[in-house]
Amino acid sequence: MSLIKLHDRCFRPFINRQQIAERVNSLGAEITKDYHGLDPLFISILNGSFIFAADLFREVKTHAEIAFVKLSSYSGMASSGTVITEIGIPGDITGRHIVIVEDIIDTGRTLAAFIPELLKENPASVKLACFLSKPEALQHDIKADYTCFEIQNEFVVGYGLDYDGLGRNLPDLYILADQ
Ligand code: IMP
Ligand code: MG
Repeated sequence: MSLIKLHDRCFRPFINRQQIAERVNSLGAEITKDYHGLDPLFISILNGSFIFAADLFREVKTHAEIAFVKLSSYSGMASSGTVITEIGIPGDITGRHIVIVEDIIDTGRTLAAFIPELLKENPASVKLACFLSKPEALQHDIKADYTCFEIQNEFVVGYGLDYDGLGRNLPDLYILADQ
């Protein structure tokens, strides 16, 4: 693997597809064990989490459902500060066991806005599965129950994550190379 260029920036290989698959498999196994018989509803936050959600969901070996919401707060490499709901919470989630699936917890702002909205609908439980988290960037009281990787406070792309629209289809994870 070598450097790739997206728009005006260069990225280098960071976490490869095998390492990703191993972590996703073990999260799936953990969730399978924790949710056996509970018919959990996965809520995947678009756009970033669609690839992680598809892989994780297929590693869940018990009855489960999935739905999607679309929230956005990012533009380029900086979080914009306001969380916009473009597609909202689907149907009736009263009494359901919810697993939120997110690509990355950065400042935590997106989830700090979304989780209270979800709790208003009286689910039985809410847990959070994220592909990545950046503990140094966190500004809200958000903690994932299932995390694939904790990373340093750097910008990454691939496996669903983008830089201004590009990079989501990279099967491996890349990190900013030109500071
Ligand atoms: P938060 O609300 O600041 O936690 O940001 C969450 C959202 O910002 C994620 O769902 C991503 O879409 C985006 N994001 C945060 N860090 C990165 C990154 O390093 N690369 C690409 N997108 C990112
Ligand atoms: Mg994004």
